[in-house]
Amino acid sequence: MKFEVALAIWVVVAVLGVTIDGGECKIVQFIFGDSLSDVGNNMYLSRSLAQASLPWYGIDFGNGLPNGRFTNGRTVADIIGDNTGLPRPPAFLSPSLTENLILENGVNYASGGGGILNETGGYFIQRLSLNKQIELFQGTQQMIISKIGKEKSDEFFKESQYVVALGSNDFINNYLMPVYSDSWKYNDQSFIDYLMETLEGQLRKLHSFGARKLMVFGLGPMGCIPLQRVLSTTGKCQEKTNKLAIAFNRASSKLLDNLSTKLVNASFKFGEAYDVVNDVISNPTKYGFDNADSPCCSFGQIRPALTCLPASTLCEDRSKYVFWDEYHPSDSANELIANELIKKFGFTRVDGTNAPPPSAPSPVTAPSPVIAPSPVG
Ligand SMILES: *[C@@H]1O[C@H](CO)[C@@H](O)[C@H](O)[C@H]1NC(C)=O
Ligand SMILES: *[C@@H]1O[C@H](CO)[C@@H](O)[C@H](O)[C@H]1NC(C)=O
Ligand SMILES: *[C@@H]1O[C@H](CO)[C@@H](O)[C@H](O)[C@H]1NC(C)=O
Repeated sequence: MKFEVALAIWVVVAVLGVTIDGGECKIVQFIFGDSLSDVGNNMYLSRSLAQASLPWYGIDFGNGLPNGRFTNGRTVADIIGDNTGLPRPPAFLSPSLTENLILENGVNYASGGGGILNETGGYFIQRLSLNKQIELFQGTQQMIISKIGKEKSDEFFKESQYVVALGSNDFINNYLMPVYSDSWKYNDQSFIDYLMETLEGQLRKLHSFGARKLMVFGLGPMGCIPLQRVLSTTGKCQEKTNKLAIAFNRASSKLLDNLSTKLVNASFKFGEAYDVVNDVISNPTKYGFDNADSPCCSFGQIRPALTCLPASTLCEDRSKYVFWDEYHPSDSANELIANELIKKFGFTRVDGTNAPPPSAPSPVTAPSPVIAPSPVG
């Protein structure tokens, strides 16, 4: 409640502030993340093995061609932005990115395979780690400073919203894989401590660069992604993996509370949709899904099919599958997750009107929505 009031106040102040300023700077988002938020960066990393550049990725988005999103439709960040009145930021590596585009839409640095830790996802060869994404953000700030000057630039970055959504790969494509040295250098507790120390440094850095309104998204029950189930002997969720997600969420929540009180003028928030997704997985029909354990896009009986391919077959009704591929939720599941996060963060629209009721359950009967093409293509 307190947060909702505070948020409503800053939204009003921010909107007025910008208007008094001459309406020059919009409120935009800067997104740091992994494949759950990537909107095309990895398409421009030609050697990266983490790709969503082939059909049937993007089949329910715009013209239906692959656009770099690792799902059939929208990401969670797309949906939250749409529902809070914020433009969708283009991929940083998009060749059409310009200062004006950044001032109008923000930037998305998210990269499939990326993690909080530099070493995470190493076997994808190319991906942008969170540290690298923050370096690129510094470069973006320099571009904007030379375009509109230091003072206006400071104001612009102070009013912007920041999303940090990484962590899954630090487990799935690092700690839980014996090919990575972190898997034997750490135990569960010391690994989470290491992640929190690293994340704290990264969030402090973003604050020192002017970020004031920042959200960190937690992890879902990642032991229940189709890949984890197929790698277990029983086909059930891997409880060890789920426990790590819960421990990560708990530690992150504490870290964010702590930072929010320590950093000047900071509204740093943590939110996750673990319980809701877990409930969807246990009771899919309650939410209008009829499959919560296998990927909609699969390669016959061959599992795990590491990625969705042109030769793969698709499930009959994509809106009824929780998972799109072995790793990633479908558009319908993302909508459910986004609605839960909107509720947890107590969002209001940036234009001051209320966000659509997030509690209204979900994509239940709606088909996967088809929406305007992203500016990235
Ligand atoms: C991680 O990578 C960044 C460059 O992106 C580098 O500056 C930093 O020193 C590295 N950190 C560690 C702990 O290796
Ligand atoms: C916040 O973090 C500091 C160390 O950075 C620690 O000493 C303190 O106990 C933490 N406070 C809370 C409420 O977790
Ligand atoms: C904190 O906010 C106040 C009021 O907007 C401002 O005057 C001050 O410079 C800010 N401090 C920092 C470090 O951002």
